[in-house]
Amino acid sequence: MTDHQTLRPAGEDAHTPDRGERRYSTGFGNEHSGEAVPGTLPVGRNSPQRAPHGLYAEQLSGSAFTEPRARNRRSWLYRIRPSAAHPPFARVDNRGLRSAPFEETVPDPNRLRWDPLPEPAAGTDFVDGLWTLGGNGDARQRSGMAIHLYHANASMTDRVFSDSDGELLIVPERGTIELHTEFGPLTAPPGHVALIPRGVRFRVELAGAGARGYVCENYGAPFELPELGPIGANGLANARDFLAPRAAFDDAERPVEVVNKFCGNLWAATYDHSPLDVVAWHGTHVPYLYDLRRFNVMGTISYDHPDPSVFTVLTSPSDTPGLANADFVVFAPRWLVGEDTFRPPYFHRNVMSEYMGLVEGAYDAKASGFLPGGGSLHNMMSAHGPDRETFDRASGADLVPQKVDDGLAFMFETRWPVTLAGQARSAGHLQQGYDTVWQGLERNFRS
Ligand code: FE2
Repeated sequence: MTDHQTLRPAGEDAHTPDRGERRYSTGFGNEHSGEAVPGTLPVGRNSPQRAPHGLYAEQLSGSAFTEPRARNRRSWLYRIRPSAAHPPFARVDNRGLRSAPFEETVPDPNRLRWDPLPEPAAGTDFVDGLWTLGGNGDARQRSGMAIHLYHANASMTDRVFSDSDGELLIVPERGTIELHTEFGPLTAPPGHVALIPRGVRFRVELAGAGARGYVCENYGAPFELPELGPIGANGLANARDFLAPRAAFDDAERPVEVVNKFCGNLWAATYDHSPLDVVAWHGTHVPYLYDLRRFNVMGTISYDHPDPSVFTVLTSPSDTPGLANADFVVFAPRWLVGEDTFRPPYFHRNVMSEYMGLVEGAYDAKASGFLPGGGSLHNMMSAHGPDRETFDRASGADLVPQKVDDGLAFMFETRWPVTLAGQARSAGHLQQGYDTVWQGLERNFRS
């Protein structure tokens, strides 16, 4: 794919909806570039003897140098100070953040569901408001994933975060967040997802009074677009709908606390400047934004609900073909037209483990109790599916074409069981008696 800026000097994407003052480059996995000051991006080489305008050249490697081209991720940054110029880091409180390996609780086969996080204490920013539900794998082995939620009512001003353990897929549920990254800003309202690659520094400003949402911390291979197979060359999440930031920098000579998650723990150092001081960059290891409403939903036009893998937006592959370390799956507005078909998601037991969240509205397999900002965990091989009310309604429905457009649900699906953090097991917002939604499913069999 080609750099959007080369094709459209005005910086406009004709199909990008109004995003205020934000302008983006488009495309997934391509070589993006940008310069906040004209002439600061070297031409024809990455590391000239003297970088333009007295900047420092620095490579950020998100993959090993020698990984195949299709999965190689790296960017070149041209910055006011090199990242190496920083004081020592010291351990700070992890607060609500937990990391893999998860060993605080015994893995639980029960179906579990949580209400939304309670309101945060005053002055809680994005980092302080991270709260871990659970996960799997091992951050030190770069495998597995963690499920976090966040709630915040304060912006990060002189505070910057980065995660050495994995990339962060952020799913806003309430409140628009402004992600100021080393590569420039991304504006992520609910209904969008934003991805911060491993090691990229950023801070989060709130556009309103508060913000809430979900985070998949992916320790494994970076998310990529799923193969399309017989679907063809187009469909699901289209590459051109992914948006990368345009270069912008913070030329700040003031104390800035830089918080780093490293092998499960938070460390912090106070710099005498902002590390968001990248004036120009190019590369493939870049943050991005995606509007879930752009997802091109595939479904049946004959019979049967397809397996929900057809709703995969992004997948983190493992070393086994088709077996994801983690998938991000969206249940977006769509038409249901299946004939002689039970149209909601079917009853299911799955070797993969499923965490579901809800951005807005309702989910078509649950009539009640599954709230925006809440979540459910159906661990490996646990039996789940529509609740009694949904089953009765769908079994008796008149099968005319039906538009499902009253909700936006998603799933983090992962190859290994999810073990809870202790705080998720003992949380006051863990619902008691979730099993009862499947009670009353009567015996209908007549021999
Ligand atoms: Fe399932």
